[in-house]
Amino acid sequence: MSKRFLTILTVVLSGVIFLAAGVLVAADKQEVPDEVILQNKGYKKDKKGPVKLTHKKHNVEYKVACAECHHVYEGGKNVWKEGDHVDKCNKCHDPKKKNKKTKAMKLQNAYHKNCKNCHKALKKEGKPTGPFKKCNQCHAKKKKK
Ligand code: HEC
Ligand code: HEC
Ligand code: HEC
Ligand code: HEC
Repeated sequence: MSKRFLTILTVVLSGVIFLAAGVLVAADKQEVPDEVILQNKGYKKDKKGPVKLTHKKHNVEYKVACAECHHVYEGGKNVWKEGDHVDKCNKCHDPKKKNKKTKAMKLQNAYHKNCKNCHKALKKEGKPTGPFKKCNQCHAKKKKK
């Protein structure tokens, strides 16, 4: 191979590697949403309307740490840390049944336990909190079909 050809090959290849690395980084740099509308599919019955979570506000104003809501368990410990990839809750929590192997509870229970337990505990401490009794303070009215 000529020297010139090798130089061109090197330039082209490093360009490809550079681009691929850029794409990979971009693919894992997740946007942290301001708001999330929770409306999963696959429940036995979809009885209730969607729930809006003021995602950013919970973190910034209410000072709730990311790891209060996001986790990856290894040996019973939450090893998820800020900057790690975030999976949707339904990746591990099934809407229909508890996962016997991982012990991940049903999706509805996972949300209710996460959201309501925190609100309830804050109320007990006499602090400002979110709803845990009235369903429609979280669930929007369901549209008639
Ligand atoms: C703190 C907020 C909050 C409160 C209060 C709350 N829920 Fe939920 N609930 C959620 C979230 C979040 C989901 C997940 C929504 C989804 O995936 O569509 C959910 C899911 C559900 C589901 C399964 C999805 C569906 O539409 O069938 C049911 C049933 C449900 N809730 C019933 C209730 C009832 C009944 C009450 C009142 C006693 C209540 N919830 C109060 C947050 C709340
Ligand atoms: C009060 C609970 C809570 C807090 C605090 C919280 N999150 Fe979330 N976050 C959620 C929920 C619930 C979702 C929606 C998950 C779903 O759709 O299943 C979500 C979604 C996300 C998503 C989008 C995932 C996707 O694929 O759609 C990212 C990224 C994320 N959160 C990162 C963060 C980071 C970083 C922090 C801290 C700065 C944080 N979250 C704080 C509950 C929370
Ligand atoms: C990567 C898989 C995975 C994802 C994604 C995940 N969970 Fe879990 N979660 C688990 C497993 C496994 C357990 C059971 C851990 C145990 O009991 O040892 C669990 C336990 C829980 C518990 C009970 C223990 C605790 O931490 O309070 C709640 C509540 C919960 N999850 C809510 C959520 C919510 C809400 C989301 C989305 C914001 C979510 N999970 C996303 C795997 C996951
Ligand atoms: C670890 C604690 C914690 C968790 C987990 C949590 N919240 Fe909250 N939430 C708060 C606090 C604190 C406030 C309000 C404090 C205030 O008014 O100053 C609040 C307020 C709210 C409000 C009323 C005000 C608003 O911003 O909309 C709603 C609705 C709400 N939360 C829904 C949710 C849902 C849905 C989830 C689960 C996906 C959730 N919260 C999980 C602590 C928490």
